[in-house]
Amino acid sequence: MKTGKLITLEGIDGAGKTTHLPFIVHLLEALGITVVATREPGGTQLGEALRGLLLQHTMHVETETLLMFAARREHIHKVIMPALMRGDWVVSDRFTDATFAYQGGGRKLSTTKLEALEQWVHPELQPDLTLLFDLPLDVARTRFSSKRHLDKFEHEQVTFFVNARTEYLRRAAQFPDRFRLIDANRSIKEVQNELHQIIHGMEWAP
Ligand code: TYD
Repeated sequence: MKTGKLITLEGIDGAGKTTHLPFIVHLLEALGITVVATREPGGTQLGEALRGLLLQHTMHVETETLLMFAARREHIHKVIMPALMRGDWVVSDRFTDATFAYQGGGRKLSTTKLEALEQWVHPELQPDLTLLFDLPLDVARTRFSSKRHLDKFEHEQVTFFVNARTEYLRRAAQFPDRFRLIDANRSIKEVQNELHQIIHGMEWAP
């Protein structure tokens, strides 16, 4: 039986989820939970190889989406499900909501196709908690454009990210039970205080 919990971190590039992931892991470990920290696309050897292709090469949106789900299939099979079955908790930097936001919102692939792939790849599995780091586009862009090497997605136009953010917010409204919206346009300390409250307020925490 699956006894662990799956927590996913989402948000447009520059929202800070990668910065906050180690803090969330630390909060959970302090509660005595064994945590597997991972990311998408990636998380397995094959998934990381696919990530390299996905973040560098321009491709048809359906190719991109199928590769995202191929990497995810492997990730669920090799990492996520075994951890949840052991009773460990998984914290993943992105999961399927990112595909809805980026390939659906950003690239306009139909929700019907995305839902079909989601049904195929993980019909039963959904995150127990999704932390959506949300902030205005101009702030996000200022943050990530100072990076030395921008990946393929980070080179996209403003409208791509506006649409990705809109889709994230739409999904947060559609699935209010599992989403927590975090105002990421604040200092790291302020966001950490809220994360502390959320993690300690989870009714299913040990
Ligand atoms: P990101 O998570 O932002 O990593 P880093 O913090 O190292 O830059 O990079 C992953 C990129 O992949 C990000 O731009 C979003 C994109 N992505 C999708 O387009 N679809 C998906 O399903 C996933 C998981 C990621």
